[in-house]
Amino acid sequence: MSSQPIGFFDSGIGGITIWKEVTTLLPNENTIYLADSKNAPYGEKPKEDILRLSIKNTEYLLNKGCKLIVVACNTATTNAIDYLRTHYNVPFIGIEPAIKPAALQTKTNSVGILATKGTLASSLFSKTSALYASNIKVTEQVGIGLVDLIEQGKLNSPEMTSLLRTYIAPMVAADIDYLVLGCTHYPFLIEQLRTMLPETVTIIDSGKAIAKQTQHILTANHIENTTNKIATHSIATNYKPEILQQFLGDDASLKASYLNF
Ligand code: SIN
Repeated sequence: MSSQPIGFFDSGIGGITIWKEVTTLLPNENTIYLADSKNAPYGEKPKEDILRLSIKNTEYLLNKGCKLIVVACNTATTNAIDYLRTHYNVPFIGIEPAIKPAALQTKTNSVGILATKGTLASSLFSKTSALYASNIKVTEQVGIGLVDLIEQGKLNSPEMTSLLRTYIAPMVAADIDYLVLGCTHYPFLIEQLRTMLPETVTIIDSGKAIAKQTQHILTANHIENTTNKIATHSIATNYKPEILQQFLGDDASLKASYLNF
């Protein structure tokens, strides 16, 4: 039994999509969410910078007593999780693009993946792709500009619509039946993407699978919180808390605060 919090970090607000799934499945668990929005997007940065920021975020969460850390960012996972697992003594859960389920389920033998440059260029992504998707057509697309617009709260802006249309067109032309969202920010775009994609295309994101994996790792390590107290959540960002708040919804107990980080 451990009432210590689960820590989450992301380059910004994208990991909230993961945090929501985890806190829904595990309502007992206390959490701390760190949004490093000042440094977003990570996806355009060199690997050394992504690693340095991931270490900084991890140490902040460990100083707050976190018992497990969810690296709620595909770019940080693919570039830093091996290092974090070797150097810190808590379990880490990472988010890899869900290329495996898409490759196993495709009927058209053609899938699309939308992710950051940092994720698509990582060796972890190449290995996963080579392992599961070598016999199918994979249309990869770097989502340049998407994270920036999401971080500014411009979800339904004309710029966003135009970028999405451009990025999705080659995938539709390639007859994909699965679109993998390889960045935790992108589930905020599902509604728009749905209007642009044929009904036959299934969109896959990792939230529910990560929540189950978190549950499994807590149980396997005997660190789940079995007390009946109402869980507390603290959410901090080093950019504009009001934008983060917009993504948290109406729940008054979920207040984003500013952190000088
Ligand atoms: C980014 O900061 O560029 C996106 C984060 C992610 O890959 O999930």
